[in-house]
Amino acid sequence: SNEPNRLVEEILEWKKKRNAVLLAHNYQVPEIQDIADVLGDSLALARAAVKTDADVIVFCGVHFMAETAAILNPKKTVLLPDLEAGCSLADSITADQLRKWKTEHPGAIVVSYVNTSADVKAESDYCCTSSNAVDIVNSIPKDKDILFLPDMFLGNFVKRETGRENIHIWMGECHVHAGIHPHQVDNVFTEHPKAELLVHPECGCSTSSMYLKSEGVLPGDKTHILSTGNMLKHSKSSKADEFIVATETGIIHQMEKQNPHKQFVAANPEAVCPFMKMITLDNMLAALKENKHEITVPPKTAEQAKLAIDRMISIG
Ligand code: 13P
Ligand code: SF4
Repeated sequence: SNEPNRLVEEILEWKKKRNAVLLAHNYQVPEIQDIADVLGDSLALARAAVKTDADVIVFCGVHFMAETAAILNPKKTVLLPDLEAGCSLADSITADQLRKWKTEHPGAIVVSYVNTSADVKAESDYCCTSSNAVDIVNSIPKDKDILFLPDMFLGNFVKRETGRENIHIWMGECHVHAGIHPHQVDNVFTEHPKAELLVHPECGCSTSSMYLKSEGVLPGDKTHILSTGNMLKHSKSSKADEFIVATETGIIHQMEKQNPHKQFVAANPEAVCPFMKMITLDNMLAALKENKHEITVPPKTAEQAKLAIDRMISIG
């Protein structure tokens, strides 16, 4: 491949030529994070996609994120540099499975994590992200049953935070976050006893972290269950010098960049999302030059899914 600086220059030229904006998720490789116009969590990126006046959105993230941007911007070109950038969590439920689940719970309200396909969103009443899932569920009348999907760890977190018993949770998981286990957090804590703990609610360790926090085993003021965007905010504003980070490790680049004097330790250094890492400077340049890969959603599906996505954008 080309020399990185030249590559970056070329990307910037093409970006101007096409009036494009580069939206990147916090798990992207460092060189993509460094060149992005907007870097953020799922909710921030969906909101940025609504606000932009660019003609082309290059989505540096995974397929469902580009799809969401396309639904929100039917007149804009949305590009995903590598079509293989999927999501194991989004793949854990299909629209057919959801339709069947709905027939088993007539009248229930469907709350889908944004990590789902457009077809699943079209069958949903609300979408949410990890940063507003609790607010979304709290906005739904207490007497309504809720079908929460597809992530079981986030579902448990929401159930605990809202105190609602009438939430049915789909048993899906993200293989990267599910692989961050309580014993790994314990081990890192032994080495860094003064650190604050930042846990993404999708993690395999999130249920036990909530429990241990409520039991006083983990210090309440130092244990935080947060979306990636809120982890970044918190690591900036906190007075602590050390943090244990329980999420995909890509975010640590941004944490270190924003807080050069603080130390960030991965709870599980192997928590790397292969899909997020598929976007490179090379395929991003090719995306801009060759207009690929254009992400579109059939109008009827998009129209249905947009109702649920608009609720997500406006709450929390
Ligand atoms: P957030 O960035 O919204 O916390 O989501 C995490 C994630 O897994 C996205 O794929
Ligand atoms: Fe999907 Fe997990 Fe990768 Fe996020 S980290 S994109 S949830 S597979």
